Amino acid sequence: MKVVSVVGARPQLVKLAPIAAAFSRTDHEHFIIHTGQHYDADLSDVFFTGLGIPDPDVHLGVGSGSHGVQTGAVLAAIDPVLEREKPDWVLVYGDTNSTLAGAVAAVKQHLPVAHLEAGLRSFNRRMPEEHNRVLTDHAADLLLAPTEEAMRHLAAEGLAARSVLAGDVMVDVCLRVRDTVRAGEHGAPTLPEGIDPNEPYLLATLHRAENTDDPRRLAGLVAALNELPVPVALLAHPRLLVRAEQHGVKLDQGAVRVGRPLPYAEMVAAVLGSVGVVTDSGGLQKEAYLLQRPCTTLRPETEWVETLDGGWNHLVPDPQELGRPAWVELATRPAPTTPTGTPYGDGHAADRVVEILAQHLA
Ligand code: UD1
Repeated sequence: MKVVSVVGARPQLVKLAPIAAAFSRTDHEHFIIHTGQHYDADLSDVFFTGLGIPDPDVHLGVGSGSHGVQTGAVLAAIDPVLEREKPDWVLVYGDTNSTLAGAVAAVKQHLPVAHLEAGLRSFNRRMPEEHNRVLTDHAADLLLAPTEEAMRHLAAEGLAARSVLAGDVMVDVCLRVRDTVRAGEHGAPTLPEGIDPNEPYLLATLHRAENTDDPRRLAGLVAALNELPVPVALLAHPRLLVRAEQHGVKLDQGAVRVGRPLPYAEMVAAVLGSVGVVTDSGGLQKEAYLLQRPCTTLRPETEWVETLDGGWNHLVPDPQELGRPAWVELATRPAPTTPTGTPYGDGHAADRVVEILAQHLA
């Protein structure tokens, strides 16, 4: 069996790591296309080196652009590669513009498409990721769902016959790396200047278009982080830096200390070293849950609803609306005593994905 993986953005590289490792334990051929959606070393290269992913076989180098331009650039550039490689499966990951472009290009060439992390829904049709998920699921031939909830969403959209519960490959990588961090195999994470790793700190990220692109919204969220009584290590995605600069929002005042995005193992270490997480990232909500740190999510909804159980994750659509005392109490709450469950699987999802692909070979 020959499988082409299409990746391009940071969260896809995290998911690619366990999949590439699973393929390396088999005789199947695995070919990696990097679209180039993320090009900064902090968002791309460090994940290949840090997670031991083989270099991409092809790099399309599309870079940034509006949604249409970026998606279109991947479509145009990927066509000749798929035509030449003629894989048995094109495997697309998650919900970025690279996901949708990879799926559409493959469908047009009558190549079977499998979607990893299928069935996630926020039901917020203003999110670019929601467009990408829905359109990719309806285009794909095989839907690899991470959770029972995702299976229900797919069934509700008439896609049950193409859906398989595979589990979540992010558990595979997160737990493996957690164990290496605990075993002392990595140095201390590079936290922002001014954060003392031996004192309590909150770990924060903010990058979703809904939170960064409206000047008033961004200013309100940054003000809320700044008024927290615990130091906040804000690991700034390039989008956040660009938008803060454009909107004249100063990030590092009050509690906030700004640093660069971290490689994966350092991120896991930084979560483990923190007293809690404040974020709008999907992946980080789940990592906080798996690493048993309380998470506060700056969004009105989450795709990872299981993290809300037992109070491990809390949604805060707008900290200003909540009012300062309630916001501070929530963001600095201690870890719940309720044990976390295993809704995301057992840490062996990637091997299962490879098996499922082989079983469903047309
Ligand atoms: C993308 C995904 C999002 C995912 C996120 C993880 C889409 C629609 N969104 O968002 O689902 O959670 O990746 O990081 O696909 N930039 C750089 N260097 C880079 C990449 C981006 O400076 O390496 C800046 C550019 O100013 C660019 C902006 O970030 O315009 C946005 O990048 P883009 O790839 O459009 O989306 P992300 O916000 O990274």
